[in-house]
Amino acid sequence: MAKLIGLNRIKTAVFISGTGSNLKNLINFSKTKKSPISIDLIISNTIKAKGLKFANQYQIKKKIFNFKNIKTTEKKLFILLKKNKINFICLAGFMKILSSKFIKQFNGKIINIHPSLLPRYKGLNTHSRAIQNKDKFSGCTVHYVTEKLDSGKIIMQKKIKILKKDTSSSLARKILKQEHKIYPKAILKIFN
Ligand code: GAR
Repeated sequence: MAKLIGLNRIKTAVFISGTGSNLKNLINFSKTKKSPISIDLIISNTIKAKGLKFANQYQIKKKIFNFKNIKTTEKKLFILLKKNKINFICLAGFMKILSSKFIKQFNGKIINIHPSLLPRYKGLNTHSRAIQNKDKFSGCTVHYVTEKLDSGKIIMQKKIKILKKDTSSSLARKILKQEHKIYPKAILKIFN
């Protein structure tokens, strides 16, 4: 019976560019009983992404696309996703911007985690911008991906206090811990 668990899960691809701590966290979540998703494919835009090691470690299919030519890359990517029956995409530290055509093709089925309290600080360098502006709080957001960068409907947010002694790296560390908590929770919220 235990072997049957997972058969009906939503086949998911995780897109990464870097360390992959969110990827690892999502893989571990996907192996729990309550997870509505299974992670069947890992996509990276660079061979240098440290997170690719989790593909080997957990024996998950991986593919690297350099995204130099976005049109042809996304065409190949779309075919690969369909071939693997992927129905859901989680962006986890993926630093390329997907085209509106691709996003439309996967309409409503791509989510992202962003290290700020959106709509504040879309884009890059969120932590240093929050500190520079002397914000009292920051946090992270899980949201749907739409054609407009970091602007899709918010699924879940977690707010944390910025302390006087915080630097952008200490803040990044604290927020990353919260990211690991809310990303699985947001997925449960979507599918339950
Ligand atoms: C995370 O903090 C994530 O929110 C951020 O990159 C980091 C990836 O860490 N994403 C973005 O900035 C997307 N715009 P990870 O590779 O250890 O998961």
